[in-house]
Amino acid sequence: MLVMEDLPNSGIQSPSSSTFSLSASESPAAISTPSTSRSLLFDDDVIADPLDIAGNSSQFIMVVGGLGYIGSHTVLELLKENYNVLVVDDLSNSYESVLHRIKALATEHFAAQDRLMPALHFRQMDYRSPHMRSVLANYSFYSISSKAGPSIAMEDVVSALPRRFPFSSLQRTDSGIDMGSEDAQQNTLRRQSRITGVIHFAAYKSVEESIRMPLRYYSNNVCGMVDFLGLLEEFGIKNFVFSSSATVYGEGANCGMPLREELCVHHPEIFKDDDGIERRVLPGVMGLTSPYGRSKFMCESILADIARSDPSWSITALRYFNPVGCHESGILGEDPRQKPSNLIPVIASVLTGAKPHLDIFGTDWNTPDGTAVRDFIHVVDLARGHIAALAASAAGRIKAPFRAYNLGTGRGHTVREVLHSLQETSRRTIPVREVGRRAGDVGFCVAEVRRAETELAWSAEKSLPDCALDVWNFTKTRCESQASDEIIC
Ligand SMILES: NC(=O)c1ccc[n+]([C@@H]2O[C@H](COP(=O)([O-])OP(=O)(O)OC[C@H]3O[C@@H](n4cnc5c(N)ncnc54)[C@H](O)[C@@H]3O)[C@@H](O)[C@H]2O)c1
Repeated sequence: MLVMEDLPNSGIQSPSSSTFSLSASESPAAISTPSTSRSLLFDDDVIADPLDIAGNSSQFIMVVGGLGYIGSHTVLELLKENYNVLVVDDLSNSYESVLHRIKALATEHFAAQDRLMPALHFRQMDYRSPHMRSVLANYSFYSISSKAGPSIAMEDVVSALPRRFPFSSLQRTDSGIDMGSEDAQQNTLRRQSRITGVIHFAAYKSVEESIRMPLRYYSNNVCGMVDFLGLLEEFGIKNFVFSSSATVYGEGANCGMPLREELCVHHPEIFKDDDGIERRVLPGVMGLTSPYGRSKFMCESILADIARSDPSWSITALRYFNPVGCHESGILGEDPRQKPSNLIPVIASVLTGAKPHLDIFGTDWNTPDGTAVRDFIHVVDLARGHIAALAASAAGRIKAPFRAYNLGTGRGHTVREVLHSLQETSRRTIPVREVGRRAGDVGFCVAEVRRAETELAWSAEKSLPDCALDVWNFTKTRCESQASDEIIC
């Protein structure tokens, strides 16, 4: 079991309940989840004490699937914004080394600014595991509130405790734990979580594999999330950011226009179209072609239903367009265990000689050069979109308990443009093979990004050449480190 040590951080905040308690005026940079002191939280021999009254009070963002491609970049950006981060990942499609790379980059960042780094915790675990309960218990704290008077501060609770606090006589209630003694009418022991938000990346993502193994996808992506949400609710954690995808637009992507969020809703909505005309849109979407796409749509629908039934949830679904690029250091990038199928990792494989050529699926689309147009968004911009979502939620800028946002650039590039960009940057020729269209593909898929710009105060900043440069850096770095494996570079 890996143990990540906490590094101390400046600025102590008092713990809050499990909803965000930041004021609307706070910028993301001002939001902090100050670190814990050194801990043994992840020593396997230490069983979570469900009544950690004197426990640590610092707040964390939990990132499930945080060592994958998008998760790892997001964890680094969270740390840079001073959030303490707890990563849960089963390494089914990532490597433990990613954690060390994140830590190295964050350490360098904070050293350059002469600041102390927030805490980075890691738990290698399937987020469907029953042990997740212990993990969450480890990040809980308790306070006693008296029905007769104001709630008692934690230090006072601890100092006022009898030598042996009668834990055995406490009873859990929905909202906390009632004292089972003669004080029953007076005092309630409340459990609160130090996890103030969860970002959910933990899913399988291969369209092709999902068609062959639908149950694997529904089990992890849908059932896993449902059970996880139940657990979060039990611990009072109700801030949730979900990794969704442009795939939820299904056939709507064929409209040939930038896709706006209202093309896929889960409850009836009224919105103003581009001409200012009010329109009513009904839930549902046509033409989802794979279990993977359906799993994303189902998850969004479930999240929208939960938020409708209990508006104290704050749920943000971020619909990614085509994430590309990697961290500019060349240290962090897309490094999956499974065979990559996305455009950029495939191009990188061709550049390293691991693959003989790039397959271009369809050269007869109605686009400037016949290849498909996609909205390629740099993964660091995407990562920052998650922080913008957390900040907007904390500031109360997200108007509904469930809200979906496109994360894209709003600009389209053809597959050939991406190819040329990588060729120019690497000064190498990338052999291609033109093959036919794949079933379910669309010619043009670009985001309408006004909603994210307005409500999340977020927009993509990096360009396609930035993506190409960073991917080439990462590819070269990997080549250098794997030179002994005879990869041609
Ligand atoms: N990369 C894309 O092009 C893209 C596009 C749209 C949406 N998404 C979504 O974004 C999310 C992240 O994508 P990514 O590209 O970073 O994928 P990834 O495979 O690189 O990362 C997913 C991470 O989750 C982990 N994981 C999977 N199942 C888990 C489980 N049950 N418990 C714990 N950890 C688990 C994996 O080990 C991996 O580290 C996914 O939900 C994906 O569907 C990705």
